[in-house]
Amino acid sequence: MSTKLSPSILSADFARLGEEVRRVEALGIDEIHIDVMDGHFVPNITIGAPVIRSLRKESRAFFDSHLMIERPARYFEDFLKAGSDGITCHVEVKEADECIALSKKEGIRAGISLNPETAVEKVMPYVGKVDMFLVMSVHPGFGGQKFMPEVLPKVEALRRAIDEEGLDTLIQIDGGMNTESAPLAVKAGVNIVVAGSAVFKGDVEENISRMMKAIMG
Ligand code: DX5
Ligand code: ZN
Repeated sequence: MSTKLSPSILSADFARLGEEVRRVEALGIDEIHIDVMDGHFVPNITIGAPVIRSLRKESRAFFDSHLMIERPARYFEDFLKAGSDGITCHVEVKEADECIALSKKEGIRAGISLNPETAVEKVMPYVGKVDMFLVMSVHPGFGGQKFMPEVLPKVEALRRAIDEEGLDTLIQIDGGMNTESAPLAVKAGVNIVVAGSAVFKGDVEENISRMMKAIMG
């Protein structure tokens, strides 16, 4: 099973976003994690569809939009048209099923995410129905938080369920990933490690190389 690194632009320099994305792409990255927050589902507001639309012109990478918003179905079309290749909504919101159905209809990667305090049983019914599970390993809303190792059993449970069904559904982990926590997530069964601070804070080239080594083992 191969595992990839997906940089979260939340920790990038917002004044130079296009440049930052091109830079990581030149270093071999092919998937970018875009954190969308609405100030309701999480206590923070970040970027919206217009920024994604502008970035789309700068990059050919897979755009993975992580919608930490109360109404993902209401805004689905905006994020699709802006150039998202995958849309992940949260199981904790009412419009989750509708958002997944829209992703499926449009043929983009359909993801479902769960917060640290949400039991894995809540997302088990989605095995076979989504293309990706996103296990949050921090409380969503901010970059730079500490990894919560207690979420790893959820990754393991999802990995077992996916493998038992012989599916190729992806598992992503997001929050507090660094060279110490990423190998634990890989061991538990993730395919995609999302990292913001561990990529964009400091020397990006060195960070990516260190993170790739930690992920590859
Ligand atoms: C948190 C976001 C994450 C965040 C991760 O709500 O979903 O994607 O950017 O940042 P780090 O890697 O710094 O924990
Ligand atoms: Zn995220």
